[in-house]
Amino acid sequence: MATTQVTISPEALKASQHSERAPDPCIVVIFGASGDLTKRKLLPALYHLEQAGNLPENFAVVGVARRPLEQTFAADMKDGIVSGGGVDAADDKLDPFVGRIRYHAMNFDDAAGYDALKKLLGDLDGEFKTQGNRLFYLATAPEYFSDIIKFLGEHGMAQPEAPVEGAQGKGSWVRVIIEKPFGHDLESAKALNDEVNKVFREDQIFRIDHYLGKETVQNILVFRFANGIFENVWNRNYIDHIEITAAESIGIEGRGPFYESAGALRDVVQNHVMELLSFVAMEPPVSFEASAVRAEKIKVYRAISPIHPADTVRGQYGPGMVDGKAVIGYRQEDRVHPRSQTETYAALRLEIENWRWAGVPIYIRAGKRLAKRVTEITIQFKQPPLLLFKDREGKGAEGIKSNIISMRIQPDEGIALRFEAKIPGPSMNIAPVNMNFNYSEAFGVSSANGYERLLLDAMLGDGTLFAHRDGVEATWALMTPILEYWAKNPIKDFPNYAAGTWGPSTGDALMESEGRKWRKL
Ligand code: BG6
Repeated sequence: MATTQVTISPEALKASQHSERAPDPCIVVIFGASGDLTKRKLLPALYHLEQAGNLPENFAVVGVARRPLEQTFAADMKDGIVSGGGVDAADDKLDPFVGRIRYHAMNFDDAAGYDALKKLLGDLDGEFKTQGNRLFYLATAPEYFSDIIKFLGEHGMAQPEAPVEGAQGKGSWVRVIIEKPFGHDLESAKALNDEVNKVFREDQIFRIDHYLGKETVQNILVFRFANGIFENVWNRNYIDHIEITAAESIGIEGRGPFYESAGALRDVVQNHVMELLSFVAMEPPVSFEASAVRAEKIKVYRAISPIHPADTVRGQYGPGMVDGKAVIGYRQEDRVHPRSQTETYAALRLEIENWRWAGVPIYIRAGKRLAKRVTEITIQFKQPPLLLFKDREGKGAEGIKSNIISMRIQPDEGIALRFEAKIPGPSMNIAPVNMNFNYSEAFGVSSANGYERLLLDAMLGDGTLFAHRDGVEATWALMTPILEYWAKNPIKDFPNYAAGTWGPSTGDALMESEGRKWRKL
């Protein structure tokens, strides 16, 4: 398989891991710190930042949750950094880093707990010289977001108490990262936005979608706007259709109660997939500033025409085989209703009604317990206007294939271009071939999990890769009518796909009814 030659020196590559921008001293305060996310993703990400020299010297982490974990929390986080972050337990920065981790037990609706937390943070400012700067991270179940925000406001913790001694006249800052799901539908997202905006200014709020931290997602913009050749054909004149697949082979991994109230559309499509779509479809922003990028994303969402129920498909997995092992169906999962109507697969067809995209169908599918884990965007081009080789069509393999640009978000991150080539020999036989760019082969580094970049950006106050209020509401505005229609019209044949397959046949029919097929991934 052809690979890409990269003309960047190993030194330059190493240097690129180090941010040119250094965050201010600060304390990262994680609410819901006893959950999986903190141990598996957030602490490993913070430690990777430390290893790359991207954390400030004056820094501390405080985990906040209900259980009394004071004695075990730091050691548990160390385990997470080693096992989840692939870090050597003997790494010389590890123990000093773990020495900066603290824990505070409290109920999220207990006023006294916030007073005690405020005092603890003040004490830590003294101990670690963190200058009053705070990055709150809401990693709790979403039902606690409002309470925490409200109490932070009431206890004077949402706005900096400037100027703080040692901050050299700069004043301090307070920011809040809010995990997904941000709302449950349009109304609840608006209500949550109102509550958050009562306490924090929009520039203090970082609605996180970890997909935006993935290198391959950011690279969509680089691919499109740092190269001269693709943008010219990136429109309705040349593109036949776009496919976005976010397939997972895992099930719901013990998250029954959460998933029962979410489903694939809320869990992955409304956020991750729509973010991908906005990057693929947006107009070039005037700069890479947060406001310029967000403005273009919102224009894409607002140009999507209402999605008709007939252009939607839902599925739910039954028992099946994944990686050679028998697995149970969704309805047999722990704490899932035996007649659950929750979809574990969702597929949509939509159109963006603007000059660039009018008439180009966009097919989206996302699901759990599918045949494999792969997130990919496929841009399929139109056939050449004159098929010189049309008599080959239907002969040999499958006739002439259209050009495809596929952007592999994960795993095997990279970009491939499919085109036709002549098979060597006296006859004019042709076959599709691929030109491949593979991230890890080209750069020798694997793509980070997304959280590193986003935590760093939030510490720097850069909201470019975070969702804005209007964007979140715009995507909910598209999804809510579908959710309402689905709620009113239960499906009779759930489960309708076996675990380990590519989803229900209705998902294939969505494309087949228009003479197209999902690309084989
Ligand atoms: C999360 C969803 O936001 O994204 C999970 O809640 C899903 O259900 C996960 O598994 C997928 O993320 P990634 O980075 O593994 O593709």
